[in-house]
Amino acid sequence: MQRNVTKAIFPVAGLGTRFLPATKSIPKEILTLVDRPLIQYAIDEARDAGIEEFIFVTSRGKGALEDYFDHSHELQNSLEKSGKKDLLKILEATNMDSGAIAYLRQHKALGLGHAVWCARRLIGDEPFAVILTDDVIAADKPCLQQMVEAYQETGGCMVAAMEVPMEKTSSYGVLDVSEDMGSIVRTRGMVEKPKKEDAPSNLAVIGRYILTPQIMENLHNQAPGAGGEIQLTDAIAQEIREGRDVFGFRFRGQRFDCGTKAGFLQATVSFGLARPDLRDEFAQFIADVTMLQNAAE
Ligand code: G1P
Repeated sequence: MQRNVTKAIFPVAGLGTRFLPATKSIPKEILTLVDRPLIQYAIDEARDAGIEEFIFVTSRGKGALEDYFDHSHELQNSLEKSGKKDLLKILEATNMDSGAIAYLRQHKALGLGHAVWCARRLIGDEPFAVILTDDVIAADKPCLQQMVEAYQETGGCMVAAMEVPMEKTSSYGVLDVSEDMGSIVRTRGMVEKPKKEDAPSNLAVIGRYILTPQIMENLHNQAPGAGGEIQLTDAIAQEIREGRDVFGFRFRGQRFDCGTKAGFLQATVSFGLARPDLRDEFAQFIADVTMLQNAAE
C-alpha cells in the first residue's frame, strides 16, 4: 500500500502570451470552456482523485486566480435571497476550505521544474500530484483518479502518457519504454522535447504526474535542460538513472491541449456538445455552419 496522495501542485505562473490580448489582464487559467474557467476543471479533477491541499505556483498578475477561489459573500447572499439554489450549488464548487489552498510565487520564469521545486517546503516528505491546467482531459473517470488507483499498485513516479504523431514529439516529454503492460508502461528513460529523429518513442507525457518527494531533491541540483529551462522531465529521468521506478500511464479519456488556440476551440466544441442544456441548439448550429462551408467550397 502506498501513502495517499493528498497534495497537488498547480504550476500557473506562465504568462499565457499565446492568448494575447485576452491574457493581458486576466490569467490564462481563468479563460473559460463553456462556463467554467480552466482552473476549475483542474481543481475538480484533483478533488475527485482525493486531493485535499492545493498549491498554486503563481507569478505577478495572477490575482484573479486568488479571488476566484475566495468565498464571495455578497454574491452568495444575493443568490440566497432570490432562492437561486442551482446557482448557489455551482458557486459552492469554487469555494475552498480555509487552509486548503496555498499560493506561492515563482519569482523567475526558470521552467516547469523550477516552478514545482518552489513548492518543496509545502510538500515535505509526501508523494504529490502535479496538474498542468493547459491539458484538459475529458474522461468518464477523471484522469488523476485513474492514476492514483494505478499508483496504489505500482508506487514510484507516474506520468500520464498518450501516443502522439511522431512529428509532434518535439513538443513533449517522451518516454523510452522498457516494458509495455497495456495501460501501465515501465520506462528506462525520458527526454524533454527531443528532435524528431532522437525521440525514443511516440509516447508523450501529458500534464498529470504523481511524484515521490525525491523529485524535489533532484530538482534542487537540476541543471537547465531543453530550452535553457529547469525541466521536470529531467528530474524524473534522474529517478530512472538511479534505479527507481518510473511508470507511464495510458489514461482513458480525450485530452485537449488548451495551451493552443486550436486545442482550446476543439475543447470548447466538445464540452459544449457534451452539455445536455446546450447540446441540441449547438449541434444544430455546427451542422448548419458545416453545410454552409461545404456548399461554399
Ligand atoms: C510540459 C512538459 C512536457 C509535457 C507537456 C504536456 O511542456 O515539460 O514534458 O509533455 O507539458 O503538456 P510544455 O507544454 O509546458 O512546454
